[in-house]
Amino acid sequence: MSKSSPKEGAFLSDVKELRRRAREHIDQGAVTTGYQADREKVIKVLNEALATEIVCVLRYKRHYFMATGIHAQAVAQEFLEHANDEQGHADRIAERITQLGGEPDFNPAGLVSRSHSEYVEGESLIDMIRENLVAERIAIESYGEIVRFLSDRDITSRRLMEEILAVEEEHADDLRDLMATLDPTQPG
Ligand SMILES: [Fe+2]
Ligand SMILES: [Fe+2]
Repeated sequence: MSKSSPKEGAFLSDVKELRRRAREHIDQGAVTTGYQADREKVIKVLNEALATEIVCVLRYKRHYFMATGIHAQAVAQEFLEHANDEQGHADRIAERITQLGGEPDFNPAGLVSRSHSEYVEGESLIDMIRENLVAERIAIESYGEIVRFLSDRDITSRRLMEEILAVEEEHADDLRDLMATLDPTQPG
């Protein structure tokens, strides 16, 4: 049991100060004095991601029911799975917004303008798959930007967005495979 070296000690050295700061503004819950991001900006950006997820849920649900109607069970199942994943993302983002002391915006008015991706219905099965792929690619771009914006200023929000980003990349990959299966003329 050697004592920690002065160098190690320098990291988080002042435990008393840490404890004092944690007790201060205790009503702010998870947001401590050490929170380095612009909280209002982070909440706004997370609300845009929330709107993006909600629009994705609605689009995938529409496509799920429409694809079911045209007897494309395997594709419909994929749409349903994605819809459920997007709902999970929306919930996690909303939860994080409240942790930061913000309010998750579920107001349907203005949802599409807050969202980064679009709600496109599509006519045929291949249209639907293509529109979902486009929406996933938009989400991938914008979540990448959000991750870089959060950087090391809000590690928890960044990790959340990184995890969601990884799932959107899987979704895009699934859709590209589906497109290649259904339409071999498309570059796989
Ligand atoms: Fe998502
Ligand atoms: Fe997705």
